[in-house]
Amino acid sequence: MGRSSWTWTALLLLLPTLLPVPSASSSSRLTIHPGCQASSGGVDIPYPFGIGCFRPGFEIACVTSTTPVLAGTSPAVRVLSLSVMPRPEARVTLPVAYQCYNQTGNATDDFSYGTVDLNPAGVYRISNTYNELFVLGCYTLGYTNSGPGGRYRYMVYTGCMAYCNDSGSAQDGACAGIGCCRVDIPPGLADNKMKFSSCWWRDAMEFSPCDYAFIVEKGYYTFRATDLRMDVAQATMPLRLDWAIRGDGNGTSMSMSCAQAANRPGYTCKSDHSECVDSTNGPGYVCNCTKGYEGNLYLDEGCTNINECERSREEFPCHGECHDTDGSYDCRCCLGYQSNGDPKENPCNPKFPLAAKLTLGMNTVFNNKFSCTYISSFICNHVSEETAVQKE
Ligand SMILES: *[C@@H]1O[C@H](CO)[C@@H](O)[C@H](O)[C@H]1NC(C)=O
Ligand SMILES: *[C@@H]1O[C@H](CO)[C@@H](O)[C@H](O)[C@H]1NC(C)=O
Ligand SMILES: *[C@@H]1O[C@H](CO)[C@@H](O)[C@H](O)[C@H]1NC(C)=O
Ligand SMILES: *[C@@H]1O[C@H](CO)[C@@H](O)[C@H](O)[C@H]1NC(C)=O
Ligand SMILES: *[C@@H]1O[C@H](CO)[C@@H](O)[C@H](O)[C@H]1NC(C)=O
Repeated sequence: MGRSSWTWTALLLLLPTLLPVPSASSSSRLTIHPGCQASSGGVDIPYPFGIGCFRPGFEIACVTSTTPVLAGTSPAVRVLSLSVMPRPEARVTLPVAYQCYNQTGNATDDFSYGTVDLNPAGVYRISNTYNELFVLGCYTLGYTNSGPGGRYRYMVYTGCMAYCNDSGSAQDGACAGIGCCRVDIPPGLADNKMKFSSCWWRDAMEFSPCDYAFIVEKGYYTFRATDLRMDVAQATMPLRLDWAIRGDGNGTSMSMSCAQAANRPGYTCKSDHSECVDSTNGPGYVCNCTKGYEGNLYLDEGCTNINECERSREEFPCHGECHDTDGSYDCRCCLGYQSNGDPKENPCNPKFPLAAKLTLGMNTVFNNKFSCTYISSFICNHVSEETAVQKE
């Protein structure tokens, strides 16, 4: 069967844009367990993740010096980025599942359920908020199931049906059931094993020799009719995983909610200025610093005060003079200035006529030459403007 390498090439070309761009602010605040490797292949690795040094269940391995993967996964699940706060998340790539057919309509040996044993320690769930499921084909029901123990064998079954009338039916950019369908996924998905239930049709062999299914980050994938002939051999899609503290990470204890875990040994969110948040995707809990504090609670360091005044004014706005406080910050207008409201939101304007302002302003400049220095340039501008007016 003729394979088009176009799609895979396109995916490869797109991959670099998915890699996290290390930003000075995020990496300088990254918390690493002492003695742990901080990054691999441009991916920051904050504890509880780690190479050789990790909380059970969060091990990262390297297949080459530049490719971090989730340890214990086969085929290896490549890691694009890892984060602890504000959202516990791992971005990874997973293979596209497919089933191809031969000229007599038999499913060929060439197939993949997309299974990767993604979750050996059970700490991950596929994010239902940030991902969606696509099925491509011309007469196929594609679906995934997950989690033992439902009314039928699993807790979750979800998928959709894609159909084409003929070779001209599927349209680029349209994914509403013709050649392509998409659905939101429910919380609780712990792996991405896909299944197909399809009807073979001889004429479709030309333009749709296979069925495909994959979960992908919302907004990443746009359907192309030529993708009905996608070269699947190595095709992968980026998606986001939620993680949480679920048991002890090695399957020897039950996952607990915040309330259940709070008084037991091993509870992680103990330090001051921290809070426990129940996982919204699967069982378990995560730790977070309360507002105004930061730190990595999975290390023992706890949460420390954020000095908002040293951060960007976009993140923590202040139109006057900024003073850090424990857990927050004050913002006041400089002497001689006032704000029509809270100077965190509204600009500070001069209170008095120019002469008084000049004196007060100069005093302020001398008393506190760093925080209010901008006043001097403000005054200079006004003095020269008024002088110019008087001369006319
Ligand atoms: C398709 O596959 C079936 C089962 O594997 C086989 O018997 C049949 O000969 C194949 N047909 C073609 C055209 O390859
Ligand atoms: C598949 O192959 C078998 C023989 O291996 C044949 O009997 C059957 O009709 C073929 N077609 C389908 C659609 O299964
Ligand atoms: C459906 O496909 C048939 C056979 O290719 C074609 O004759 C017909 O015009 C198609 N209908 C539509 C609505 O495209
Ligand atoms: C599971 O992990 C805990 C630490 O979280 C450890 O003390 C325990 O020995 C581990 N059990 C097994 C069977 O590996
Ligand atoms: C953690 O706290 C920050 C700031 O207080 C908040 O934006 C974020 O949503 C919280 N994360 C979780 C998982 O609750």
